[in-house]
Amino acid sequence: MLKVKPVSPERLPDLLRLMPKAELHMHIEGSLEPELMFALGLRNGVSMAYPDVESLRSAYVFDNLQDFLDIYHTGTLVLRTEQDFYDMAHAYLARAAADNVVHAEIFFDTQTHTGHGLSTEVVINGLHRACVDARAEFGMSASLILCFLRHLSEKEAFECLEQVLPLRDKLLGVGLASSELGHPPEKFARVFARARALGLRLVAHAGEEAPPAYIWSALDALKVARIDHGVQATRDPALMARLAKDRIPLTVCPLSNLKLRVFPTLAEHNLGRLLEAGIVATVNSDDPSYFGGYINQNFTQTFAALNLGAQHAYQLAHNSFEASFIDDELKRQYIDRLNGVFETFQ
Ligand code: ADE
Ligand code: ZN
Repeated sequence: MLKVKPVSPERLPDLLRLMPKAELHMHIEGSLEPELMFALGLRNGVSMAYPDVESLRSAYVFDNLQDFLDIYHTGTLVLRTEQDFYDMAHAYLARAAADNVVHAEIFFDTQTHTGHGLSTEVVINGLHRACVDARAEFGMSASLILCFLRHLSEKEAFECLEQVLPLRDKLLGVGLASSELGHPPEKFARVFARARALGLRLVAHAGEEAPPAYIWSALDALKVARIDHGVQATRDPALMARLAKDRIPLTVCPLSNLKLRVFPTLAEHNLGRLLEAGIVATVNSDDPSYFGGYINQNFTQTFAALNLGAQHAYQLAHNSFEASFIDDELKRQYIDRLNGVFETFQ
């Protein structure tokens, strides 16, 4: 690990912006900005629940995860065609590239959209085409992780997995999202075993709102390689030891945690404590359109609130590549670029 020179608080935001990074926890439907949502609504003849962009944005105040999921679901109603999914993903990738995200592993789900009468192909082909184009247009790598919706049944998750099989080559892995409390990971143990047998990478949201037991069962029942959120882990010293020893990454989303009231203020966020405990924590935006910021705003606001410095910045960017599913050669190239930025930054 590079020993990093100290950087003044005034220069730190520039370093955070410039450093190459991977984003590993971002739901593409949560990147749909109100402006694009209204444009797609108009294009598809879908009437909107709010009269204009400003009133929609001002409704983005949440008490908890479920509160957010309800409004988030309404936003997905404007998505009707393959081009809509392409446009949404292209907008995110352009925004991420501007933040020096060089690699993105993007969450999406099909169950929301098939529930609205769309086909699985429309969703995956549109998103995949945007990921392919991002390589030439933005010089970045991007791939797709299908999240099962945990408030739905095991049977529905199995049906979803069967539907995506013809498009298997366009998927990197599977995850688990939506309402956490009351839907523990073990509900999906058999679906994840099937996905694993298909060679798909495995991740799951766990310990966002729910207790550490959900993180244990994501690890032991689902056998995931990464935990999404996982911030409740600090309540369980044995779990912290396991995460550190096995180098299980946590994809932490500070502004999401703030907006969904997982922590009352950013100054009380436990990102610094996770790093101190030697956990492979990363910083991500979750649903940037709804939570007030893309990845760099997550970095800058959290660093200011927690008094983190250049060494933490390096550690988090390095962790993002270590935690990604890219091959070792590409990892090495991205980490070389990261080292170059830190060695030359003045
Ligand atoms: N889907 C989109 N954002 C989510 C989050 N923060 N937790 C669970 N499911 C989600
Ligand atoms: Zn999430």
